[in-house]
Amino acid sequence: MAEARFNFPRGFLWGTATASYQVEGNNKNNQWHQWEQEEGRIMEGDSSGLACDWWGGRWREDFDRADEGKQNALRFSIEWSRIQPEPDRWDEHALDHYIDMLRGLDERGLFPLVTLHHFTDPLWITEMGGWENEAVPELFAAYAEKVTDAVKSYVTTWITINEPNVYAALGYLLGEFPPGEKHLGRTIKVMTNMARGHALAYHKMKAVQPEGRIGFAHHYRGFSPKRSRNPLDWLTASIYNRAWNDFFPTMFRDGKARLVGRVISIPEAKGTQDYLGMNFYTSDTVQFSLAAGLNNLFSHRAFPEGAEVSPNGMIASVPEDFFHALEWALQFDVPLIVTENGVEDRKDHLRREYLIEHIHQLWRAVNFNYPIKGYFFWTLVDNFEWNKGWTHRFGLWELDVESQSRNRRKSADLYAEICEENALTSDMVRRYSPNLFEKLFPG
Ligand code: FCB
Repeated sequence: MAEARFNFPRGFLWGTATASYQVEGNNKNNQWHQWEQEEGRIMEGDSSGLACDWWGGRWREDFDRADEGKQNALRFSIEWSRIQPEPDRWDEHALDHYIDMLRGLDERGLFPLVTLHHFTDPLWITEMGGWENEAVPELFAAYAEKVTDAVKSYVTTWITINEPNVYAALGYLLGEFPPGEKHLGRTIKVMTNMARGHALAYHKMKAVQPEGRIGFAHHYRGFSPKRSRNPLDWLTASIYNRAWNDFFPTMFRDGKARLVGRVISIPEAKGTQDYLGMNFYTSDTVQFSLAAGLNNLFSHRAFPEGAEVSPNGMIASVPEDFFHALEWALQFDVPLIVTENGVEDRKDHLRREYLIEHIHQLWRAVNFNYPIKGYFFWTLVDNFEWNKGWTHRFGLWELDVESQSRNRRKSADLYAEICEENALTSDMVRRYSPNLFEKLFPG
């Protein structure tokens, strides 16, 4: 058949995404470090250690990898606990380190997308009760303002908080992330305070950089009823969607949003997203069950039937749901950036297929003129995957944690071709994932 190309618009951002705690190493002044010291918290008893040793300077070689891999953008996060190690002290050396990194991106022609909060809090924040404490949103906003002022000549596009829904749910409802709580009321408190933190940061950042584009990175996960004709399954799925998917972006559009039967109003949050950052990995079906209890919102969750699942069972590949997620995001009437998407796959068996099918759906959305400005693959080099430690590998490059050597996976070559061509082509599919050819190019 004739060759086909799925083209992307000129200037489309192609990058990879990372987070400070997962790549820097030697981060000892935040709650995740403390959590790592507790037995049984991290799979296999792993520890982040040097991580990818970015704090030791290996960001240089990894930025080279991104550059040589034809990417034109990179997402990284600034570590609050380094910038403000104590309540009354800013660490200017730490700021300089990040400025060096930003210069490094600039020299390589990589557009910076910078996150201010990616799951980690300084220990002094944890000691005052973390995001349950009403004073924390203001403190976060002061830090955000400080960083914006320091690096505003290098950074135009910001993520205030990464995945506040994941932070709150895994830390306060499911107990898998610090502080390991299982309490709905506290979860709601944390969500509300994080929404305030974003809003206050937005206004302070705008005051020092009016031209800045500020948003947050939202973890969207589709929930659909397991039994399509069962009203309780429908109801449960819609409660999930409202609480998990709708709460934050609706709050940042309207200044109010529904959460578990209540309307929460934060007037200063209205109109505080210049774009929507979307992290998309997978989706679930939900089935109503009284026996599952309140913390599971009276339901069992499972991956959609027939979907291919990643080696450790963390992610089911459901590319059509990625398209639905992008479609869902249109209601917020702001530009979109895919701030994360990827799959754990140490042996690189599923990743190429996952990448091709998700880029294909991304292209469909772009082709319908959805205002999508860029795509950031999670991630460049294997990094420390939170409570999963080193067992779950998301990198285009494989990391040998001991020796710090990197080994390129085939997916890195595929992604480099996509970035270089600003397109996905039939020729790439034929070479990297021939079994998908008929599906993507029928006839
Ligand atoms: C997201 C997180 C990111 C990484 C990926 C796999 O939820 O934002 O740090 O762990 O999952």
